[in-house]
Amino acid sequence: MTSILGSYSSLHPRSAQLYQQARQTFPSGVTHDVRFLPPFPLYIERARGCRKWDVDGNEIIGYVMGHGALMLGHSHPLLVEAVTGQIAKGTHYGACHELELAWAGWVQRLIPSAERVRFTNSGTEATLMATRLARAYTGRDKILKFSYHFHGWHDSVVGARYGQPESGQVSGVPAATLANRVTIPQNDIALVERTLAEDRNIAAIIIEPSGASWGTLPLVGGFLAQLREVSQRYGVVLIFDEVVTGFRLSPGGAQELYGVVPDVTCLAKILAGGLPGGAVAGKRDILALIEFTQDMEWNLSRRILHPGTFNANPLSAAAGSAMLSHIADGQPQAHADAMAQRLVAAMNEALEKREIPGCVYGLSSMFHIVLGKDCPRPRDGIEWPWDAANGAPPPRTNLDVALALKWGCLNNGVDLMGFDGGLVSAVHEPADIDATIEAFDKTLAQMRAEGIL
Ligand SMILES: Cc1ncc(COP(=O)(O)O)c(C=O)c1O
Repeated sequence: MTSILGSYSSLHPRSAQLYQQARQTFPSGVTHDVRFLPPFPLYIERARGCRKWDVDGNEIIGYVMGHGALMLGHSHPLLVEAVTGQIAKGTHYGACHELELAWAGWVQRLIPSAERVRFTNSGTEATLMATRLARAYTGRDKILKFSYHFHGWHDSVVGARYGQPESGQVSGVPAATLANRVTIPQNDIALVERTLAEDRNIAAIIIEPSGASWGTLPLVGGFLAQLREVSQRYGVVLIFDEVVTGFRLSPGGAQELYGVVPDVTCLAKILAGGLPGGAVAGKRDILALIEFTQDMEWNLSRRILHPGTFNANPLSAAAGSAMLSHIADGQPQAHADAMAQRLVAAMNEALEKREIPGCVYGLSSMFHIVLGKDCPRPRDGIEWPWDAANGAPPPRTNLDVALALKWGCLNNGVDLMGFDGGLVSAVHEPADIDATIEAFDKTLAQMRAEGIL
């Protein structure tokens, strides 16, 4: 019997070959940390809807979906039309244009905190802008963040991902910069309050409103509302990093779903319709720090500088407006949520049937898989069952098991996000979900046969 890894190698010879070439060019052969996969990652040739095809001709149902950007799947006709129509009219005017107004108009209609909007080029740039705004607005230096919450890779927020040790050091980031950051565990409002009371130099609290790492470590109910109250009392800017949750959890993101409006919101991914783009959307008086006075004062002791060659570029604006107009009524998100529920319920049934320890849980249209660890399974819906878990957060799959799951699922035609999760889109249909469940079940059987589970 060929092993899971053996099958992975024999099914993907061209990818293996391209990876050897890539290693001569890119560090570790990849262009994004999450795309690194030993012994080699897959090379994709084309994609449509929720499917993609690799260079060896294998068809794959995707749950990476443009790292969460592709709520309408690959090459949705609406977006193809918007982008091809725009490319003929110009990709960069080096000037203001109506498309940026239309795009920001959708942001303002959908995102409750968006009194003012500023476009950036990525989620990382959005959190960079948000933290700088908060520091300038409050005159304080420190950012309070939560363990394993991911906000991009700039100096103020970069840190350990879930599953990595938190050493307090970050290679390449000066100790003086790290001293201006306070990292505490999520879900403990008393600790937040104590931290703010003891350190009056905290400018902002930044949080992924799904819980750490797009909900891998979920939040307990009410934590966001508690943060809102405490941050207001201490005059601290509350930043929701809705780069993943924005337009996904609801048309207005987590803030609409939970009814908690932050001071500043960071957006990207779905925002730009699958093209590069980000935004900061927030209170008028906070974003006013980017404003010029009419005499064009450039005084940087007062205002925040914000150029950026590709800010609000017409292609992203066209794609973003098409995307947001299409998902504004919430129907696509409701479909994606329903598909995620179907998937999670059936994956948990497969674990139950095969008596494999583990669980699958998630939030909205995002799911996470735990294998080889005892944990309770969601009974209704997909959210982590805090009661059944006695308040403990989900455990994480060991890396060797997660790798076998990733290879096995790919062999059977399914691409997970990272090693053990996924993002469902509005174009995943019941037949795609059922094919995924079959592939998952087959992978479990192969892992069991190989003694991995
Ligand atoms: C919650 C969150 N914030 C920020 C970022 C960074 O966004 P970008 O990759 O566009 O820089 C990401 C990226 O995955 C993210 O998940």
